[in-house]
Amino acid sequence: MPAQRKLFVTTALPYANGNFHIGHIMEYIQADIWVRHQRMQGSQVHFVCADDAHGAPIMIAAEKAGKSPQQFVADIAAGRKPYLDGFHIAFDNWHSTDAPENHELAQQIYRDLKANGLVSSKVIEQFFDPAKNMFLPDRFIKGECPNCHAKDQYGDNCEVCSKVYSPTDLINPYSALSGATPVLKSSEHFFFKLSDPRCMAFLKEWTRAEGRLQTEVLNKISEWLEPDETGKSALGDWDISRDAPYFGIEIPDAPGKYFYVWLDAPVGYLASLKNYLGKIGVDYDKFIADPDVEQYHFIGKDIITFHTLFWPAMLHFSGRKVPNKVFVHGFLTVNNGEKMSKSRGTGLDPLKYLSLGMNPEWLRYYLAAKLSGRNEDIDFNPEDFMARVNSDLIGKFVNIASRAVKFVPGGKLTAATAEPGELALVENVKAMYEARDYGRALRDIMAYADKVNLRFDSAAPWKLVKEGQAAEAAAVCSLCLESFKIMTACLKPVLPALAAQAEAFLQCAPLDWSNAAVPLGEGHQVGDYKHLMQRVDVKQLDALFEPAADAEPVPTAPGGEELAPVISIDDFARIDLRIAKIVNCETVEGSTKLLRMTLDVGEGKTRNVFSGIASAYKPEELIGKLTVMVANLAPRKMKFGISEGMVLAASHADEKANPGIYVMNPWPGAEPGMRVR
Ligand code: 2FM
Ligand code: ZN
Repeated sequence: MPAQRKLFVTTALPYANGNFHIGHIMEYIQADIWVRHQRMQGSQVHFVCADDAHGAPIMIAAEKAGKSPQQFVADIAAGRKPYLDGFHIAFDNWHSTDAPENHELAQQIYRDLKANGLVSSKVIEQFFDPAKNMFLPDRFIKGECPNCHAKDQYGDNCEVCSKVYSPTDLINPYSALSGATPVLKSSEHFFFKLSDPRCMAFLKEWTRAEGRLQTEVLNKISEWLEPDETGKSALGDWDISRDAPYFGIEIPDAPGKYFYVWLDAPVGYLASLKNYLGKIGVDYDKFIADPDVEQYHFIGKDIITFHTLFWPAMLHFSGRKVPNKVFVHGFLTVNNGEKMSKSRGTGLDPLKYLSLGMNPEWLRYYLAAKLSGRNEDIDFNPEDFMARVNSDLIGKFVNIASRAVKFVPGGKLTAATAEPGELALVENVKAMYEARDYGRALRDIMAYADKVNLRFDSAAPWKLVKEGQAAEAAAVCSLCLESFKIMTACLKPVLPALAAQAEAFLQCAPLDWSNAAVPLGEGHQVGDYKHLMQRVDVKQLDALFEPAADAEPVPTAPGGEELAPVISIDDFARIDLRIAKIVNCETVEGSTKLLRMTLDVGEGKTRNVFSGIASAYKPEELIGKLTVMVANLAPRKMKFGISEGMVLAASHADEKANPGIYVMNPWPGAEPGMRVR
């Protein structure tokens, strides 16, 4: 048996200026599947991520939100958990690039690079916003395109004619922050000397090492690794400093200078690892110096150069371990639509998906079925999604367990073998997970499922039983359950929750690659079958792609009031609405707004409820009527007594300008105490 592998695995650190969109979730699921596969073969894995907290855009967004940048990113971080837990993404640690470990590590790496002669400084001229008193990043400078004269174009390229230029080429430039005309101002910047021949030599070797990068990725970066027409290195020095005010990490011995966010962002991988190892009592320096530790980064195709050129060079020339591999994936489109851009996560909202009660493992299965080890875009197509989940995952895999167990009396297996083909299946699937070719792994598993279903159908155990051959039926179905176990193991990296339920049903040890093809065996007792997975309902998909209440353009909501955020059926179920009979109603002395109601909700006692409807109803109009109340609202102490619930009534958002309150009244037939659902 090979020695246990030690792996350090990361996904790209998301900017802490917004919630996750489906593109983030896809990357995390891709990496999570790989990590779970590794764990199934006994590898030790540390799987970490963090918020990418720094940079001008976040600083500016925080200011707009009226928060300190620290508070701003903390608030974003606080919203991460429901997504990660919701999609069964099991990072060992979630940290922040603004954490002390990152400040320390980034500064140390910089010092090491400097000591190695790879940091230079140069005075450069840049646009400066005299109103905001700060240098402007390119994307905050706008003006007229020098080529096609389109107005309001960004500082680096024109969205109308696609011309690439520098901000100083813009006609009538202005600051997107203040509107002021920017002025040119010089300042000293620090550079990582990537043009140094040592860097080129190292990067050529590192990038071209066998198996290091996907071919298409290597092709993409090859232009940087050859001298340009003039014979100079195509890799220029990299500007790694920014002037105050900047939300970032201070550069040692350079007051008022900060690291450009892309310098300290990947260092955040190490910072999160260090933080995690601290928590589990492992020495970080020792771990990261261990030559047996393998380091892997999952990233999207938009950040290839940072991860295949700058980052390995930073690590190598500061005397650190370099990544073993960088795994690049393409973008996710929805309905053949636009790519999921970082700033506009349109299309498929992950939280909405969960709140609709959609199973996270449907999405994991679907994305896995579409993913290969290559850097290529994939598309989310609702019909395809439904077909793959309902016909393949449920129709072929899940259902075989329920169909077969019926014919195994008492759930005691009567025959069991592992066919030679099954061992081969497990070995193949394992190799495909290793190569991140999940689509092929699932195709092989489904082809096997087809065979199992065929075996079941052609044996026709229901007929065998009728013909008095119950023992034959039990034998065939025992084999089908053995096959179900093998498929469960093969799908486990993709469907961890389903696999756990299936293991409970099979009453077997946690499945891994070592026991996947070992038969449960004759006489093995399986448990009671409980339905393992619901089918996708087309209504859920319709609801998922219905424009959100806050989508642009804002739809006119009923009554002019914006719809509240979407809630799940479970959220709704937490509100206990009951039919209530108004057995008494009276005015409240000292209040012009409130009426005091005595309500019967079928509890054998009455409740006292205050309601702000005195402007609309006289007590005698209400006595004896039925209405709807929130019956499980915590009692509230009010000036005039305790209110034990709330009566439902409709009104306009702007009650003052638009008065009118209308108490809910059920159709005839409803009785006190009935639940409204
Ligand atoms: O492109 C992005 O979303 C960056 N926040 C990724 C950073 S990855 C790593 F370098 F931190
Ligand atoms: Zn133009």
